[in-house]
Amino acid sequence: MSDRIHTLSGYFHEYQKSVADPENFWARVADSFHWKKRWDKVLDWDFEGPDVKWFLNGKLNITENILERHLYTIGDKPAIIWEPNEPGEDSRTLTYRQLYEEVCRFSHVLQEKGVQKGDKVIIYMPMVPEAAVAMLACARVGAVHSVVFAGFSSNALSDRINDCEAKVVLTADGNFRGNKKIPVKAVVDEALEKTSTVTSVIVYQRTGQEVTMKEGRDFWWHEAIEGKGTQQEAVEMDSEDMLFILYTSGSTGKPKGVVHTCGGYMVYSKYTFENVFQYNPGDVYWCTADIGWITGHSYIVYGPLLSGATSIMFEGVPTYPHAGRFWEIVDKYKVNQFYTAPTAIRALQAHGTEPIEPFKLDSLKVLGSVGEPINEEAWHWYHTHIGKTKCPIVDTWWQTETGGIMVSPLAGITPTKPAYATLPLPGVQLAIMDPDGKEMTGNSVEGNLCIKFPWPGMIRTTYGDHDRCRQTYFATYKGMYFTGDGVKRDHDGYYRILGRVDDVINVSGHRMGTAEVENAINEHPLVVESAVVGYPHQVKGQGIYAYVICDMKNRSEQSLTNEIKDTVTKIIGPIAKPDKIQIVPGLPKTRSGKIMRRILRKVAEGNMDNMGDTSTLLDPDVVEKIIEGRIE
Ligand code: PRX
Repeated sequence: MSDRIHTLSGYFHEYQKSVADPENFWARVADSFHWKKRWDKVLDWDFEGPDVKWFLNGKLNITENILERHLYTIGDKPAIIWEPNEPGEDSRTLTYRQLYEEVCRFSHVLQEKGVQKGDKVIIYMPMVPEAAVAMLACARVGAVHSVVFAGFSSNALSDRINDCEAKVVLTADGNFRGNKKIPVKAVVDEALEKTSTVTSVIVYQRTGQEVTMKEGRDFWWHEAIEGKGTQQEAVEMDSEDMLFILYTSGSTGKPKGVVHTCGGYMVYSKYTFENVFQYNPGDVYWCTADIGWITGHSYIVYGPLLSGATSIMFEGVPTYPHAGRFWEIVDKYKVNQFYTAPTAIRALQAHGTEPIEPFKLDSLKVLGSVGEPINEEAWHWYHTHIGKTKCPIVDTWWQTETGGIMVSPLAGITPTKPAYATLPLPGVQLAIMDPDGKEMTGNSVEGNLCIKFPWPGMIRTTYGDHDRCRQTYFATYKGMYFTGDGVKRDHDGYYRILGRVDDVINVSGHRMGTAEVENAINEHPLVVESAVVGYPHQVKGQGIYAYVICDMKNRSEQSLTNEIKDTVTKIIGPIAKPDKIQIVPGLPKTRSGKIMRRILRKVAEGNMDNMGDTSTLLDPDVVEKIIEGRIE
């Protein structure tokens, strides 16, 4: 752990070095990894293209840095500890050696099914260790994994399979979540009816529920690995070969496939993990995210395992079978670093402190927060009742596109401030832009957050549509990566993320495009038009408020709104289901036909005093009617 920062002055020193000479800075970090062949050049970049390459012509396999690297030093140490949904069921531990063997075995399976370097593999699995094994086995054979959150619908799944032309799907029979047993394979079956590229499906048996297996296409995981060797040579990858695609929502159109590559992502995920969480050998670390999201990729699987850490993987939910479940797990494994989302904190906060009391939390050293702005109240509750005021909170700001944490305190080093992500990590050069596209210098400023220099973990392209990548991130501000977030830099130079400034909403830490939800709503045959906005929600951070124009056909509002909710669940998944649906006679549109979302946001927020200028509206009366029918 040679690149570990230990003091605040050390942080400032490293930060200065990373800005003055980024190439040397990152070369030094990258030198601590195992490369099959060292790179020729550290960085080539152009934000216009965009065209960013790190560690050019370097050859590696990320799994050698996770597996072989640790085999002879910490082979018997737990890599993954898995805690099942039911507290009564046995947990499982995979040591680094066992992980190595499982990954090798499954790599053979992938190759047997014809998976070659560059092939795309969809992982649609519950939170079981095999999901991590699946990711690493893909990386080992040079295949590109694309993990799809197992809560997404068959439509969302088939869209992703088709977009990346996946050859293989890795899945499970079902998924235990709280008191539910959710079918998973059945969703895959439905999705595959709308795809033509998948030749094999491998099914991990988790729930034992009945599934249909298609002869010649579907195979059981446990049968496929039988007799497979526990050694397998890792395929040589170029630094800039794709490691994975992860689909995420944007402000327009369908979710896009964010592409991350092998070398830069490896260096960045490990460096940020060790520094932000101040992980020390022997510590037990737990991130509660799902592997279907970037947080699960970078901070359950890659970052921790590259660091030789013990990473806990939890199958269940925070409130099952009781609201103390998280704390029970912290106590059981003596967790040292705990990383979760504000929405989970707020949900647990609503249950009061009683569920915490039976459990000892004194192993905790660091608390983390990710995915959405953390409000001060939740920050204090977390700090007081979970951290007992002795654990620093690392409020980590980053995105699917950034690959790893960008702005965050270093635990125990950077003085924290409630609701502030504080300072950029070394290598991260932030810029705040004003509405005219000028960088705002100095402190006490507020504007749009951009990044003006490449970092190793950054997005390389959006799969199959490079111009979309340019348009979305590099076209708004010339020569800069635009994050889509608003930000404030206070008088101390500390950063506070204010939330999205585009048409992306953040519901329970899940990113959703308003256009995506509208498209799903519009699939209902009686819907004429819809507009979706976010509104402040006590637990979820933001809720989804949908204004819908319908052809009522003598239906009751109640039955129609329920049907619309079902439609959204079917098209995207339950996470996109609107919290409120208001049937409206019209939408506030300008003469050129543009919906004035500003007005809809204000109504959804209940902030109707100052509607601003509505004189450009085609039909100003519609605003009154919308206010009258507002749903509390
Ligand atoms: O708006 C920011 C918010 O989540 C967005 C990124 O979402 P996603 O790609 O799904 O990745 C989430 C996990 C990294 C950002 O544009 N966000 C993420 N972390 C924070 C945050 N907002 C405020 N504070 C954070 N710590």
